[in-house]
Amino acid sequence: MRADNRLLDIPVRPFEMTQRRRENQALNIHEYREGATTLRSRPLALFVELTQNCNLRCPMCRFGEKYDPALNMDEKVFDRLAEELFPDAHLVDVRGWGESTMLAGFGDLVLRALEHRVRVRVVTNGQINRPAVWDTLMRGQGIVTVSCDAASPELFDKLRAGGTLERLERTCASLVEARDRHGVPRDHVNFNVVSSMDNLDELADIVRLAARLDISPVVIHPLVAHVDDPSHLRQDLGRTQEAYARAAEAGREHGVVVQLGAAPDPSLALPEMVRKPACMHPWSYAYVRYDGAVGFCDHLIGSDEYTLGSLQHHTFEEIWNGEKWQALRRAHLSGHIPDAFAPCRYTYAQRYTDFEYLVHPDRAEGIVSSATHHDVVRSRDPRLIPAVPFAGDDADSTGQVLVPTRMLSDSLRALSVPDQS
Ligand SMILES: C[S@@+](CC[C@H](N)C(=O)[O-])C[C@H]1O[C@@H](n2cnc3c(N)ncnc32)[C@H](O)[C@@H]1O
Ligand code: SF4
Repeated sequence: MRADNRLLDIPVRPFEMTQRRRENQALNIHEYREGATTLRSRPLALFVELTQNCNLRCPMCRFGEKYDPALNMDEKVFDRLAEELFPDAHLVDVRGWGESTMLAGFGDLVLRALEHRVRVRVVTNGQINRPAVWDTLMRGQGIVTVSCDAASPELFDKLRAGGTLERLERTCASLVEARDRHGVPRDHVNFNVVSSMDNLDELADIVRLAARLDISPVVIHPLVAHVDDPSHLRQDLGRTQEAYARAAEAGREHGVVVQLGAAPDPSLALPEMVRKPACMHPWSYAYVRYDGAVGFCDHLIGSDEYTLGSLQHHTFEEIWNGEKWQALRRAHLSGHIPDAFAPCRYTYAQRYTDFEYLVHPDRAEGIVSSATHHDVVRSRDPRLIPAVPFAGDDADSTGQVLVPTRMLSDSLRALSVPDQS
């Protein structure tokens, strides 16, 4: 967008470890380790959902909603968060259950976040190339994660309905140019891959694509869907294991780190590496939805049932230390996760460190990748180690949940959507 070009004239400074941030981090990690349920510290990582609108209709995620301006965050909410929470936060991730780059004012919001000298991160489908915004983000030493689930144009069309691989490649080229222009570490532009039965045969090719684009790491997360879904990796664990091994091998061959955000299945996990209670998210993360609802985890976006209060009715402090959030922290300490937070059980079955080390440095020990482990998957008897559903069968799959918990129907998969970007 041409209007973005004026961003290029505005000075940007990178993350600053202020005394306030240093103290908040030390206190937060201390309170987590001590098992405190009422916290004096504030979140270290803040996820700000700028919009729930999206330009694509990926069958694993969307149900064909129309663009609705009411699903964009009111700038007053953004400013309130910036003023109240950015000075203590280390990481501000400006995405949610939608596509932030669609917003005309995306560059301005990035700039406003960078004024607080936080580390800004965005996850994008890479369909809208905004070189001046990438330049601004990289001058601020930000992080851009591009979601890429296919290496062939045909499969990309299917899994990222409405998008094209060609556009993604163009965006990646701009991002990498900006990264290198400003001497930003290589891993600040990386790939997120959702693995499923649909793209197992292309995982190694996605790694080769990343190598060609000079992008690393490639972080693979398994598709979250109903266990009976034909795309769920449980359908063929042998093929899954081979595909992950081939991807890791391709990574080593081409100088790309292949990281597993989670094991493809509990029976293919490295048990000693799987996250142990208590997960640090309920202590160190906060997620603010476009409408001011507050949740505690970047994996549980888009759903009302996992929010703990709303900034429309309460202060952040009232929610952060409210009874619901305290009960959640207690549940994680005891390991007895109530049904209401069933997805957290999935974490303890198969999640590894994703990027938690950015705010809890010792979490780097929990990384599983082609650089840390020769065998990134290890097979155990799946009859003894069952799949752990992400959410109960009764969860509403008609548009409230990020991740559909019922079958992704063939008709949805075949959905053909006009190009909207
Ligand atoms: C909801 S998207 C929002 C950001 C942006 N629109 C994008 O696609 O990158 C955030 C991440 O969730 C992933 N995702 C969507 N549906 C998923 C599912 N059913 N299982 C696992 N990950 C999923 C996407 O691939 C993406 O990497
Ligand atoms: S995964 Fe991202 S790009 Fe695809 S529909 Fe969901 S929010 Fe949109």
